[in-house]
Amino acid sequence: MLIRPAAVDDPGAIAAVYDHQATTTVATFDLEPQGPDLWAPRVGSTEPGDHLLVADDAGAVVGFAYSSSFRPRPAYRRTRETSVYLADGARGRGLGRALYDDLLGRLLADGVHTVIAVVAQPNPASEALHRACGYREVGVLREVGWKLDRWVDVGWWQKELASDRSVWLT
Ligand SMILES: CC(C)(COP(=O)(O)OP(=O)(O)OC[C@H]1O[C@@H](n2cnc3c(N)ncnc32)[C@H](O)[C@@H]1OP(=O)(O)O)[C@@H](O)C(=O)NCCC(=O)NCCS
Repeated sequence: MLIRPAAVDDPGAIAAVYDHQATTTVATFDLEPQGPDLWAPRVGSTEPGDHLLVADDAGAVVGFAYSSSFRPRPAYRRTRETSVYLADGARGRGLGRALYDDLLGRLLADGVHTVIAVVAQPNPASEALHRACGYREVGVLREVGWKLDRWVDVGWWQKELASDRSVWLT
């Protein structure tokens, strides 16, 4: 199993993983399949703090993790939101952890200070993964999503990285 930055050929496989979650679970608040176009612009981004990594099993992309802007205003620049999605058959064997360990290392090197994850409830696997990676839950927003015929609560998780860079790498 190889963890690597996404390449130009990967958005279709990434979309297959993500769109299954979008249409069958509350793990993302997208409701419809987004297709490869959601992911293609993230491939090869040179913006510090923005990464898209894939888990490559003998040439097949079976999962991915990415980091993106938390909120657009510039004082949030050294905070990133992170997320991770695996194909059904790829879970429970450390791949989520491997993707996040690689992603968090890159974010630390970039000078990112704080990472945020938004975890719709219930999601014991995601909560366990984030806890194992050093995130802590800092609050719950009640009934902010409506999906699959029910209101959905979201847990807010955060982790401060060790970065004390005073200068953002640009
Ligand atoms: C959440 C997800 C990425 C976890 O990835 P994974 O590869 O299955 O997790 P790992 O095998 O790396 O395990 C990481 C930790 O979580 C724990 N864990 C994994 N699945 C679990 C489950 N179903 N219940 C409880 N704990 C679980 C592991 O024991 C491990 O903890 P440890 O290090 O303390 O032993 C994966 O389940 C997934 O893709 N789910 C669907 C999409 C999703 O919900 N994404 C998150 C959106 S916020």
